[in-house]
Amino acid sequence: MRTYISERVAAVPPSGIRRFFDIAATMENVISLGIGEPDFDTPSNILDAGIASLRRGETHYTSNSGTIELRQALHDHLLRLYNVAYDPDSELLITVGGSEALYLALTAIIDAGDEVIVPQPCFVSYTAEVILSGGVAVPIATRVENNFQVTGAEIEAKITPKTKAILIGYPNNPTGAVMSRERLLEIAALAEKHDLLVLTDEIYDQLVYAPFNGDGTGAAQHTCFPALPNMRDRTILLGGWSKDYAMTGWRLGFAAAPREIAAAMRKVHQYTIMSAPTTAQAAGLEALRAGEEHVEVMRQEYDRRRRLIVGGLNEIGLKTFEPQGAFYAFPSVAVSGMDDEEFAERLLQEEEVAVVPGNVFGAGGAGYVRCSYATAYEKLEEALERMHRFVRRHG
Ligand SMILES: Cc1ncc(COP(=O)(O)O)c(C=O)c1O
Repeated sequence: MRTYISERVAAVPPSGIRRFFDIAATMENVISLGIGEPDFDTPSNILDAGIASLRRGETHYTSNSGTIELRQALHDHLLRLYNVAYDPDSELLITVGGSEALYLALTAIIDAGDEVIVPQPCFVSYTAEVILSGGVAVPIATRVENNFQVTGAEIEAKITPKTKAILIGYPNNPTGAVMSRERLLEIAALAEKHDLLVLTDEIYDQLVYAPFNGDGTGAAQHTCFPALPNMRDRTILLGGWSKDYAMTGWRLGFAAAPREIAAAMRKVHQYTIMSAPTTAQAAGLEALRAGEEHVEVMRQEYDRRRRLIVGGLNEIGLKTFEPQGAFYAFPSVAVSGMDDEEFAERLLQEEEVAVVPGNVFGAGGAGYVRCSYATAYEKLEEALERMHRFVRRHG
């Protein structure tokens, strides 16, 4: 029989994260630092808003773009936080998670062979989605010496006549790096100079933390890319509720883009999805109206854990860059003499701690592992003890 699988799909490797989850799931005493989602449940007022919507009989499709109330609230939210304005009617689209927003963006803009520059390590879907859309992902390995922030010079070296877009995610999964305004301005200048689009995945935007050596108060600043001078009309902003509001299971995200691009994305969304889940949209509205305090409580707890795990990993010899956003630590495993795959596999087998080998996140990830601190403080303490034993044995 001939193969029926398209070349595009065959070209995408399976996600490297899954394999570890499957092994971990068979173990009894495992502590998983492999998880990429909040351990908190959705705050109760948000939950109640979803339930109330169901009780009101809101069990039907919404407008393709999402309810106008939610789009209006999202407009207000982006304006208030970042001073960037999108027309709720024509420039905002409510999607099935940030994942769908990414899919729509790439499907709407990529022709076969178009190149998308993808700084890495990064969320595993970026490269896969570029390939699925028919494009070519051009990786750049970011470096710890640059705080895992891509530089303008590194990007410019990869620009060719086929380059259409740059795809960056910050706060970053898996490194926890937050792009500084200065570095983002370098990207903005290149986008203008070479007439490129910038896709920014800012789904962890509200989970940013103060530097360890600061006075410990407040959060680091998140710079919203389209809010930079002249960038609104060159940017597709991708975001969502999953991480900030602990709402991964609701499947709610958004895209904000200039009118023409938003219309193209809406077309794809209309034919593939119809509308994002109605219940989730009602919950998402409550999150925007009355979620801020909950985000702050979770953010402070993540920060407490961040200090524990980053301090702990460095103490046991696993050199760890100071993450300033999301909920991941990304230690180097060099001291163990193992590569990241072997480290993760043996740590799981010998000490029952699950981490994700860094190479699955693309170029520059080999030699590191991702440890999520979206896990209870006490479990992190126990995981650190087990890792200490492991490193002592093998270091
Ligand atoms: C950087 C990044 N973007 C997007 C997503 C997908 O988010 P959602 O669950 O809203 O589809 C994730 C999930 O892990 C992520 O880490």
